[in-house]
Amino acid sequence: MSVASDKNNSNGPTTQSATIKDAPTPIISLRRVTRTFGFDDIATDALSSVNLEIQQGEFVAIMGPSGCGKTTLLNIISLLDEPTLGRYLFKGRDVSKFSSSRKAKIRNREIGIIFQNFNLINDMTVIENVALPLSYARGMQYKNLEKASELLHIVGLGSREYYTPNQLSGGQKQRVAIARALINRPSILLADEPTGNLDSANSKIIMDELTRLHKEGNTILMVTHNPELLKYASRVIQMKDGSIASDAELTETKAYRVTKRTIRSHSYHSSRRKPRRRK
Ligand SMILES: Nc1ncnc2c1ncn2[C@@H]1O[C@H](COP(=O)(O)OP(=O)(O)OP(=O)(O)O)[C@@H](O)[C@H]1O
Ligand SMILES: [Mg+2]
Repeated sequence: MSVASDKNNSNGPTTQSATIKDAPTPIISLRRVTRTFGFDDIATDALSSVNLEIQQGEFVAIMGPSGCGKTTLLNIISLLDEPTLGRYLFKGRDVSKFSSSRKAKIRNREIGIIFQNFNLINDMTVIENVALPLSYARGMQYKNLEKASELLHIVGLGSREYYTPNQLSGGQKQRVAIARALINRPSILLADEPTGNLDSANSKIIMDELTRLHKEGNTILMVTHNPELLKYASRVIQMKDGSIASDAELTETKAYRVTKRTIRSHSYHSSRRKPRRRK
Protein backbone atom coordinates (compact mmCIF):
# COMPACT_ATOMS: atom_id res chain seq x y z
CA MET A 1 0.00 0.00 0.00
CA SER A 2 1.42 3.38 -0.97
CA VAL A 3 1.61 6.22 1.45
CA ALA A 4 1.77 9.62 -0.18
CA SER A 5 2.69 13.02 1.16
CA ASP A 6 3.00 13.61 4.87
CA LYS A 7 0.42 16.33 5.20
CA ASN A 8 0.40 17.58 8.70
CA ASN A 9 2.55 18.34 11.62
CA SER A 10 1.15 19.21 14.99
CA ASN A 11 3.74 21.89 15.64
CA GLY A 12 3.83 23.47 12.22
CA PRO A 13 1.29 25.72 10.61
CA THR A 14 -2.05 24.23 9.56
CA THR A 15 -1.55 22.61 6.18
CA GLN A 16 -4.11 22.02 3.48
CA SER A 17 -5.32 18.46 3.87
CA ALA A 18 -7.42 18.36 0.72
CA THR A 19 -6.41 15.83 -1.87
CA ILE A 20 -7.15 18.18 -4.75
CA LYS A 21 -6.64 21.82 -5.55
CA ASP A 22 -9.46 24.25 -4.79
CA ALA A 23 -11.04 21.86 -2.29
CA PRO A 24 -14.00 23.18 -0.34
CA THR A 25 -13.94 24.30 3.32
CA PRO A 26 -12.90 21.37 5.51
CA ILE A 27 -15.75 19.78 7.43
CA ILE A 28 -13.43 19.57 10.46
CA SER A 29 -10.60 21.97 11.20
CA LEU A 30 -8.59 21.94 14.42
CA ARG A 31 -6.16 24.78 14.96
CA ARG A 32 -3.53 24.35 17.63
CA VAL A 33 -5.92 22.38 19.80
CA THR A 34 -4.69 21.46 23.27
CA ARG A 35 -6.71 19.47 25.80
CA THR A 36 -5.35 19.47 29.31
CA PHE A 37 -6.73 17.30 32.10
CA GLY A 38 -6.07 18.13 35.76
CA PHE A 39 -4.27 21.14 37.24
CA ASP A 40 -0.82 22.19 38.41
CA ASP A 41 1.55 19.29 39.11
CA ILE A 42 -0.82 16.61 37.78
CA ALA A 43 -1.83 18.42 34.59
CA THR A 44 -1.64 16.17 31.49
CA ASP A 45 -1.86 17.38 27.93
CA ALA A 46 -3.92 14.62 26.29
CA LEU A 47 -3.70 16.70 23.10
CA SER A 48 -0.96 19.17 22.48
CA SER A 49 -1.31 21.89 19.82
CA VAL A 50 -2.93 19.63 17.22
CA ASN A 51 -3.56 20.98 13.72
CA LEU A 52 -5.86 18.88 11.57
CA GLU A 53 -8.10 19.40 8.58
CA ILE A 54 -10.56 16.82 7.27
CA GLN A 55 -12.59 17.14 4.10
CA GLN A 56 -16.05 15.73 3.63
CA GLY A 57 -15.75 12.22 2.19
CA GLU A 58 -12.39 11.24 3.68
CA PHE A 59 -11.92 7.89 5.43
CA VAL A 60 -9.29 8.55 8.06
CA ALA A 61 -7.66 5.87 10.17
CA ILE A 62 -6.18 7.13 13.45
CA MET A 63 -3.49 4.99 15.05
CA GLY A 64 -1.10 5.27 17.96
CA PRO A 65 -0.19 3.71 21.31
CA SER A 66 -2.55 3.56 24.27
CA GLY A 67 -2.88 6.94 26.00
CA CYS A 68 -1.66 9.01 23.02
CA GLY A 69 -4.92 10.99 22.80
CA LYS A 70 -7.05 9.22 20.15
CA THR A 71 -10.29 9.10 22.16
CA THR A 72 -9.72 12.65 23.42
CA LEU A 73 -9.42 13.78 19.80
CA LEU A 74 -12.69 12.04 18.83
CA ASN A 75 -14.46 13.51 21.88
CA ILE A 76 -13.50 17.02 20.77
CA ILE A 77 -14.44 16.41 17.14
CA SER A 78 -17.82 14.98 18.20
CA LEU A 79 -18.51 18.10 20.33
CA LEU A 80 -18.66 16.05 23.53
CA ASP A 81 -15.59 17.84 24.87
CA GLU A 82 -13.93 21.22 24.27
CA PRO A 83 -10.35 22.25 23.66
CA THR A 84 -8.54 23.87 26.60
CA LEU A 85 -6.67 25.99 24.05
CA GLY A 86 -6.98 26.45 20.30
CA ARG A 87 -9.93 26.53 17.94
CA TYR A 88 -12.26 23.98 16.39
CA LEU A 89 -14.08 24.97 13.22
CA PHE A 90 -16.96 22.68 12.22
CA LYS A 91 -17.85 23.30 8.54
CA GLY A 92 -15.92 26.57 8.87
CA ARG A 93 -17.78 27.79 11.99
CA ASP A 94 -16.15 28.32 15.36
CA VAL A 95 -17.61 25.70 17.69
CA SER A 96 -16.85 27.76 20.82
CA LYS A 97 -19.66 30.08 19.74
CA PHE A 98 -22.25 27.29 19.48
CA SER A 99 -24.91 26.97 22.22
CA SER A 100 -25.15 23.60 23.92
CA SER A 101 -28.48 22.91 22.21
CA ARG A 102 -26.95 23.61 18.79
CA LYS A 103 -24.12 21.20 19.62
CA ALA A 104 -26.63 18.57 20.74
CA LYS A 105 -28.56 18.98 17.47
CA ILE A 106 -25.39 18.55 15.40
CA ARG A 107 -24.45 15.47 17.42
CA ASN A 108 -27.91 14.01 17.01
CA ARG A 109 -28.38 14.75 13.30
CA GLU A 110 -24.96 14.80 11.70
CA ILE A 111 -22.53 12.80 13.78
CA GLY A 112 -22.64 9.11 14.61
CA ILE A 113 -20.35 7.91 17.38
CA ILE A 114 -19.24 4.37 18.09
CA PHE A 115 -17.77 4.70 21.57
CA GLN A 116 -14.79 2.66 22.68
CA ASN A 117 -16.76 1.44 25.72
CA PHE A 118 -20.08 1.18 23.79
CA ASN A 119 -22.12 3.44 26.19
CA LEU A 120 -25.25 1.29 25.95
CA ILE A 121 -28.14 1.72 28.37
CA ASN A 122 -28.70 -1.46 30.35
CA ASP A 123 -32.28 -0.61 31.35
CA MET A 124 -33.38 -0.64 27.71
CA THR A 125 -33.64 -3.49 25.24
CA VAL A 126 -31.16 -3.77 22.38
CA ILE A 127 -33.71 -2.51 19.83
CA GLU A 128 -34.58 0.50 22.02
CA ASN A 129 -30.89 1.32 22.42
CA VAL A 130 -30.48 1.38 18.65
CA ALA A 131 -33.63 3.46 18.07
CA LEU A 132 -32.71 5.94 20.83
CA PRO A 133 -31.08 8.66 18.68
CA LEU A 134 -34.25 8.83 16.55
CA SER A 135 -36.44 8.98 19.62
CA TYR A 136 -35.16 12.11 21.36
CA ALA A 137 -37.52 14.33 19.38
CA ARG A 138 -40.76 12.31 19.26
CA GLY A 139 -40.46 9.34 21.57
CA MET A 140 -40.06 5.68 20.70
CA GLN A 141 -42.16 5.30 17.54
CA TYR A 142 -42.89 2.05 15.70
CA LYS A 143 -41.14 3.23 12.51
CA ASN A 144 -37.98 3.97 14.53
CA LEU A 145 -38.04 0.47 15.96
CA GLU A 146 -38.45 -0.87 12.43
CA LYS A 147 -35.33 0.98 11.29
CA ALA A 148 -33.46 -0.23 14.38
CA SER A 149 -34.53 -3.78 13.58
CA GLU A 150 -33.26 -3.46 9.98
CA LEU A 151 -29.83 -2.35 11.23
CA LEU A 152 -29.69 -5.07 13.87
CA HIS A 153 -30.26 -7.62 11.11
CA ILE A 154 -27.42 -6.08 9.06
CA VAL A 155 -24.99 -6.42 12.00
CA GLY A 156 -26.18 -10.00 12.62
CA LEU A 157 -28.18 -9.39 15.79
CA GLY A 158 -31.72 -9.84 14.54
CA SER A 159 -32.29 -12.56 17.13
CA ARG A 160 -31.19 -10.39 20.07
CA GLU A 161 -33.51 -7.39 19.67
CA TYR A 162 -35.32 -7.91 22.98
CA TYR A 163 -32.25 -8.79 25.08
CA THR A 164 -30.74 -6.12 27.31
CA PRO A 165 -27.08 -5.13 26.76
CA ASN A 166 -25.89 -6.90 29.92
CA GLN A 167 -27.09 -10.19 28.39
CA LEU A 168 -24.74 -9.77 25.41
CA SER A 169 -21.08 -10.58 24.77
CA GLY A 170 -18.54 -7.78 24.22
CA GLY A 171 -18.62 -8.24 20.45
CA GLN A 172 -22.42 -8.24 20.38
CA LYS A 173 -22.52 -5.02 22.46
CA GLN A 174 -20.09 -3.48 20.03
CA ARG A 175 -22.37 -4.35 17.10
CA VAL A 176 -25.36 -2.80 18.92
CA ALA A 177 -23.28 0.37 19.41
CA ILE A 178 -22.47 0.37 15.69
CA ALA A 179 -26.14 -0.03 14.71
CA ARG A 180 -27.06 2.85 17.04
CA ALA A 181 -24.36 5.09 15.51
CA LEU A 182 -25.68 4.39 12.00
CA ILE A 183 -29.39 4.86 12.62
CA ASN A 184 -29.45 8.60 11.92
CA ARG A 185 -27.55 8.05 8.66
CA PRO A 186 -24.82 10.39 9.95
CA SER A 187 -22.70 12.32 7.46
CA ILE A 188 -19.75 12.01 9.88
CA LEU A 189 -19.05 8.74 11.63
CA LEU A 190 -16.53 8.61 14.47
CA ALA A 191 -15.59 5.06 15.37
CA ASP A 192 -13.33 4.28 18.32
CA GLU A 193 -11.91 0.83 17.56
CA PRO A 194 -15.16 -0.38 15.97
CA THR A 195 -13.85 -3.90 15.41
CA GLY A 196 -11.79 -4.18 18.59
CA ASN A 197 -13.95 -6.97 20.07
CA LEU A 198 -14.97 -8.71 16.86
CA ASP A 199 -13.80 -11.86 15.09
CA SER A 200 -12.72 -11.56 11.46
CA ALA A 201 -16.16 -12.44 9.99
CA ASN A 202 -17.95 -9.80 12.05
CA SER A 203 -15.14 -7.26 11.47
CA LYS A 204 -15.69 -7.69 7.75
CA ILE A 205 -19.45 -7.08 8.08
CA ILE A 206 -18.76 -3.84 9.97
CA MET A 207 -15.98 -2.67 7.64
CA ASP A 208 -18.20 -3.37 4.60
CA GLU A 209 -20.92 -1.25 6.21
CA LEU A 210 -18.44 1.62 6.86
CA THR A 211 -17.23 1.29 3.27
CA ARG A 212 -20.81 1.58 2.02
CA LEU A 213 -21.35 4.74 4.10
CA HIS A 214 -18.08 6.16 2.77
CA LYS A 215 -19.11 5.49 -0.83
CA GLU A 216 -22.26 7.52 -0.21
CA GLY A 217 -20.01 10.55 0.39
CA ASN A 218 -19.87 10.42 4.18
CA THR A 219 -16.81 11.11 6.30
CA ILE A 220 -15.37 8.36 8.49
CA LEU A 221 -12.82 8.73 11.29
CA MET A 222 -11.79 5.38 12.70
CA VAL A 223 -9.42 4.71 15.56
CA THR A 224 -7.76 1.34 15.16
CA HIS A 225 -4.79 -0.67 16.37
CA ASN A 226 -5.11 -3.04 13.43
CA PRO A 227 -2.90 -2.20 10.40
CA GLU A 228 -4.98 -4.66 8.29
CA LEU A 229 -7.82 -2.12 8.36
CA LEU A 230 -5.75 0.53 6.57
CA LYS A 231 -6.86 -0.99 3.29
CA TYR A 232 -10.32 0.51 3.94
CA ALA A 233 -8.98 4.05 4.58
CA SER A 234 -7.89 6.92 2.35
CA ARG A 235 -5.60 8.51 4.91
CA VAL A 236 -3.73 7.47 8.03
CA ILE A 237 -2.82 9.63 10.99
CA GLN A 238 -0.30 8.37 13.53
CA MET A 239 -0.52 9.98 16.96
CA LYS A 240 2.13 10.06 19.65
CA ASP A 241 2.05 11.77 23.08
CA GLY A 242 -0.91 13.99 22.22
CA SER A 243 0.47 15.11 18.86
CA ILE A 244 0.14 14.07 15.25
CA ALA A 245 3.38 12.29 14.44
CA SER A 246 2.53 11.64 10.78
CA ASP A 247 -0.38 12.18 8.44
CA ALA A 248 -0.45 10.63 4.99
CA GLU A 249 -2.75 9.66 2.15
CA LEU A 250 -3.11 5.98 1.23
CA THR A 251 -3.06 6.42 -2.52
CA GLU A 252 -3.61 2.83 -3.62
CA THR A 253 -6.77 2.02 -1.71
CA LYS A 254 -10.29 1.99 -3.18
CA ALA A 255 -11.25 4.39 -0.39
CA TYR A 256 -8.72 6.92 -1.70
CA ARG A 257 -10.37 6.94 -5.13
CA VAL A 258 -13.81 7.28 -3.53
CA THR A 259 -12.56 10.17 -1.39
CA LYS A 260 -11.09 12.00 -4.37
CA ARG A 261 -14.33 11.63 -6.27
CA THR A 262 -16.39 12.94 -3.34
CA ILE A 263 -14.15 15.95 -2.76
CA ARG A 264 -14.17 16.76 -6.46
CA SER A 265 -17.97 16.57 -6.75
CA HIS A 266 -18.41 18.49 -3.51
CA SER A 267 -16.18 21.33 -4.70
CA TYR A 268 -18.00 21.34 -8.06
CA HIS A 269 -21.39 21.62 -6.36
CA SER A 270 -20.21 24.21 -3.87
CA SER A 271 -18.70 26.32 -6.62
CA ARG A 272 -21.99 26.05 -8.53
CA ARG A 273 -23.87 27.26 -5.49
CA LYS A 274 -21.78 30.44 -5.25
CA PRO A 275 -23.95 33.46 -6.01
CA ARG A 276 -23.13 35.22 -9.24
CA ARG A 277 -21.69 38.66 -9.00
CA ARG A 278 -23.88 41.43 -10.34
CA LYS A 279 -22.44 43.16 -13.34
N1 LIG B 1 -11.20 12.52 31.91
C1 LIG B 1 -9.88 12.43 32.04
N2 LIG B 1 -9.27 12.90 33.16
C2 LIG B 1 -7.91 12.84 33.28
N3 LIG B 1 -7.08 12.34 32.33
C3 LIG B 1 -7.64 11.87 31.21
C4 LIG B 1 -9.06 11.89 31.00
N4 LIG B 1 -9.32 11.37 29.78
C5 LIG B 1 -8.12 11.02 29.25
N5 LIG B 1 -7.12 11.33 30.11
C6 LIG B 1 -5.69 11.13 29.86
O1 LIG B 1 -5.40 11.63 28.56
C7 LIG B 1 -4.48 10.78 27.88
C8 LIG B 1 -5.08 10.36 26.56
O2 LIG B 1 -6.20 9.52 26.79
P1 LIG B 1 -7.06 8.90 25.61
O3 LIG B 1 -8.21 8.20 26.24
O4 LIG B 1 -7.36 9.97 24.63
O5 LIG B 1 -6.03 7.86 24.98
P2 LIG B 1 -6.21 6.82 23.77
O6 LIG B 1 -5.18 7.13 22.75
O7 LIG B 1 -7.62 6.80 23.35
O8 LIG B 1 -5.82 5.44 24.47
P3 LIG B 1 -6.40 3.94 24.23
O9 LIG B 1 -5.76 3.42 22.97
O10 LIG B 1 -5.93 3.20 25.44
O11 LIG B 1 -7.88 4.00 24.17
C9 LIG B 1 -4.18 9.63 28.83
O12 LIG B 1 -2.97 9.90 29.49
C10 LIG B 1 -5.33 9.65 29.82
O13 LIG B 1 -4.94 9.20 31.08
MG1 LIG C 1 -9.14 5.37 23.48
